[in-house]
Amino acid sequence: MRVLSLIPLLLAGAFLVPVSPAVAAIDPRIHTQYQRALQGVLSNVQPAGSVIASPSTSNPNYFYDWVRDTGLTMRALVGIAYDRKTAASVRAPLQQQIRAWISWELHRQEQNRLTGLGEPRFHLDGRVNEDPWGRPQNDGPAIRALTAMAVADQWIREGNFAGVKELLYAPALPARTLIKRDLEYVAHHWNEKSFDLWEEEQALHYYTLLSQYAALAKGSRLAKRLGDTGASRYYEVQARAIQSVLVQFRDPYSGAIRYALDKSPGLPHKKSILDISVILALIQNFDGSFLESTDSAMTTLKELFRVFRFQYPVNRITHDATGAPLGVALGRYPEDIYDGNGFTGGNPWFLSTLAAAEFLCDLSHLRVGKKRDALMEIALSQFNRVIFHLDAHGSMREQFNRETGYQQGARDLTWSYVSYLTAYRACFP
Ligand code: NOJ
Ligand code: NOJ
Repeated sequence: MRVLSLIPLLLAGAFLVPVSPAVAAIDPRIHTQYQRALQGVLSNVQPAGSVIASPSTSNPNYFYDWVRDTGLTMRALVGIAYDRKTAASVRAPLQQQIRAWISWELHRQEQNRLTGLGEPRFHLDGRVNEDPWGRPQNDGPAIRALTAMAVADQWIREGNFAGVKELLYAPALPARTLIKRDLEYVAHHWNEKSFDLWEEEQALHYYTLLSQYAALAKGSRLAKRLGDTGASRYYEVQARAIQSVLVQFRDPYSGAIRYALDKSPGLPHKKSILDISVILALIQNFDGSFLESTDSAMTTLKELFRVFRFQYPVNRITHDATGAPLGVALGRYPEDIYDGNGFTGGNPWFLSTLAAAEFLCDLSHLRVGKKRDALMEIALSQFNRVIFHLDAHGSMREQFNRETGYQQGARDLTWSYVSYLTAYRACFP
């Protein structure tokens, strides 16, 4: 039931791996791991449209569909499904899978249990998981809307306005279409505190707010295009209001971007302002509108490098057996104690380590000459670091141990693989 028809195509090598001539000398495993990561993602995608966060059913149990993980996963697949470099024989089934995902999301939007669209986690039969949990998590609807809008862009390009109006965006209120429902929720709730992407702390989070800003800014343009003029103006006003809050996250002393403001008590040991979620927010919404904060973003990343290099002993290994430089293994935030199952101490995460690579590559495309090369070089070392901690099968768990470097936490974590896909596509376009 979990084996998707895409796997055979994939094994037949139907996906093209782009190889840029400028980086021909890099470790070939960086390229082959792209195929492996794609396979890792597709194994966790269900024919009915849901995505399991990880096949691990105990210690930890990640056998659920998280709105955030799924939204990010499907966004990566939308990119691949509509990329002309992807073989036509693969584009069609992937596009079919995207339609299945839309049905899945429309169904779960209708659950209306507990915090409604703020619910973070669902059973694979579509029911809300009602266990005690950090809720609401208001990044979810924003992330999902952004992914669905990427689909809407493609459908509009193909002239499929009927499909867009039926499933994705229609002006009618109360909303019954995927994007409209999420945008209404985001527009009316962005100024409320919610739980962060790590599901631990209630506050106003930079990650959540930047996702909400991006959703409303893009949503405003889509609404206008579809003749929903009043809503377009409303979303734009809300987006501007969010922007005026986002600038307050810059820390005047260090120049870095704080991960949260107005925190509720609950996680007293999380004292510093640093969190990789700031970098995740920027790579997921890299459209230039934040460019005035590029310096603060770089300061944030440098601080994260500095802290984690010192904090995680595995970073004392600085080169692999061939002499290639290993970048900095990065965790979520310095005070993290979650070890992937319990609380014996935080570790580096694949998705954090790769977020740095993706950010540096995104930025490198805006630079020329030596500056560009320098950014690429650091990005490549981040890939080397990840390859260094893979097992023989290229599997990716959530974390790798801060001392031994061996992987731990949820096995075959979809988001780990997704982070590889998006970082790779940013670095080897
Ligand atoms: C599981 C969450 O998903 C993880 O992010 C968190 O650190 C732990 N629970 C502890 O709350
Ligand atoms: C824990 C992570 O903290 C959270 O961000 C993620 O959504 C879940 N695991 C599922 O992967």
